[in-house]
Amino acid sequence: MPPFSIRVIGDPVLKQPAREVTDIDGSLVKLVDDMFATMYEAPGLGLAAPQVGVQKRLFVYDVEDKPGVLINPQIIESEGEWGFNEGCLSVPGLYFEIVRPKRILIRGLDLDGNEKEIEADELWGRLFQHELDHLEGVLLVEHLTDEQRKAAKRELRELMLDGRRPAEVKVVRADGSVEHD
Ligand code: NI
Repeated sequence: MPPFSIRVIGDPVLKQPAREVTDIDGSLVKLVDDMFATMYEAPGLGLAAPQVGVQKRLFVYDVEDKPGVLINPQIIESEGEWGFNEGCLSVPGLYFEIVRPKRILIRGLDLDGNEKEIEADELWGRLFQHELDHLEGVLLVEHLTDEQRKAAKRELRELMLDGRRPAEVKVVRADGSVEHD
């Protein structure tokens, strides 16, 4: 069993902005360990603290076997545009075609309290923007086009009524069409 269960869309904790981390202490290290375990079990590429019900500004990630944590992160620069089918552990079974800035520069603290700056593009840049949104109480469904939003409502209703983890993955395109992945 993973240390945490992941909160899913509809849970009010996912809509609240998280608070700055003021102390990097043993309990924060334990939280990060437990978040990694929960993320790997899911499995996912990133997990933000609010997704496990903790209102703190931090997230963990692991892309291309390069795990890390960012505490009190901020995006310093962003440029370009890039469309991608984006998913979220808190919105299981659904991917959405979403355009976001292609390249970003993000700054935050690591677990030793040292500042780190990461330049990230494409998948990495997407991941960081997505996780930072979670810290603001924003889910990916808030980035949808009108057509996509209508389709998403239908799909989410099915998801909520069913209550189980969906067996199949669907992609909601920007024009509102829904495809099976
Ligand atoms: Ni997410």
